[in-house]
Amino acid sequence: MNISAQLSRRSLLMGVAGASALASCGGGGGGGVSSPVSSGSTASSSSTASASGPTLPDPATAPALKTHFNGKFLVGMTAEPNEINNAISQPVLKAHANSMTAENCMKPHAIGTSAGVYNYTLADQVIAFASANNIAVRGHTLLWHQSAPDWFFAGDSTSATYRATVQARLERYITDVVTYFKGKVYAWDVVNEPTSDSAGSPYRNSRWYQVLGADYIEIALRAARAADPTVKLFINDYSTENADKLARLMSLVDTLLTRGVPLDGIGHQLHITTTWPPVANVRAAFQAAETRGLINHVTELDVSLYGSDPGSCFGTPATGCAPSLTEGTAAYWDSIRAQALQYRAMFDLFASQPSVKSVTTWGVADNHTWLSSFPVNRLNHPLLFDTTGKPKSAFWAVVNPTFVP
Ligand code: G3I
Repeated sequence: MNISAQLSRRSLLMGVAGASALASCGGGGGGGVSSPVSSGSTASSSSTASASGPTLPDPATAPALKTHFNGKFLVGMTAEPNEINNAISQPVLKAHANSMTAENCMKPHAIGTSAGVYNYTLADQVIAFASANNIAVRGHTLLWHQSAPDWFFAGDSTSATYRATVQARLERYITDVVTYFKGKVYAWDVVNEPTSDSAGSPYRNSRWYQVLGADYIEIALRAARAADPTVKLFINDYSTENADKLARLMSLVDTLLTRGVPLDGIGHQLHITTTWPPVANVRAAFQAAETRGLINHVTELDVSLYGSDPGSCFGTPATGCAPSLTEGTAAYWDSIRAQALQYRAMFDLFASQPSVKSVTTWGVADNHTWLSSFPVNRLNHPLLFDTTGKPKSAFWAVVNPTFVP
């Protein structure tokens, strides 16, 4: 299933009824903050009062997120190798992050050239940058249905030895990669997105599942633990904030735990919007892990500006998506305000949950985000820093409880 189909499911589950008080927040004001300056890197051309952003504090007064949340959780951001030298993202990473994730270059399609042959060039660049800047690295990911090179599955699938051959390739890949990054990565998303989006079996019907059955998850986790006894091992998935999806994930997890399979935590991607989910749903997801003795990482947080997309927007083809917002319009700023309140609600929750050990946004600043082209090409500014790398309303809402977005 592709990303569209995945998020289609998510969107259908969230529905449009999720519109909440978030969408009706008021505007204006910068209460409780000092040294106000205009937020407008792109000023509104409208003359209406509502078509302007809030007054934001001087960026120079922004506290480092990693310091603000010190003692609660690591603050992470995902980045491509070219972003570690980029004038927008590098300063943000250095100032605010004490964890980072490679957006793509540690996935199997990037590292696994062929059986036993690896390309670590880009991953090494990320590791070197992180090491030089005292930033820990989350490994993403050892196994994912969307990044499963054909060589893993080469051969005659009807032969008696096929299953064992594929299993051996998987074990060798995980053993070699985890060994290579031993001491350089503090956690691995060992298995990414294994949970079904449909009622019934908890298992996604991936190629891995088709060849190895549910055992593939256990095989992967055991190989990772054997290669590195101390790195934290995660299953990472999206829509854990949806009760049905969470129940399927936990059913899968319970099977693993009953069998004594090594697993340290659950990664909650949290690709969310201005109107979904309610905080209670995310709290329930954390608690489900906690009651099983597992820790929680928020692994891919972003808040889309489009809180009213219908489920069809995430179908193939995508239809009915909200039209692109235009920066500087009243609708844009309304969404930015709703986003700030959503971010605040989420970080308040994260900080209240001792089991949350790491929180990563899926990107650094709004100049680079996968949501610019998914589900359709349109403006989307889902992160805490604007397209120039300056703190947005969402940032100030997170670090200052009296800030009015
Ligand atoms: O690097 C090539 C470039 O050389 C080529 O010209 C271009 C043409 O399409 O493609 C570039 O690769 C793209 C790559 O991102 C880097 O931009 C791939 O096509 C594109 O598929 C890839 O998308 C990534 C996606 O995972 C699939 O791997 C996104 O950047 C990345 O944000 C996204 O991340 C996933 C998480 O791993 C798992 N959870 C969902 C999340 C969002 O989809």
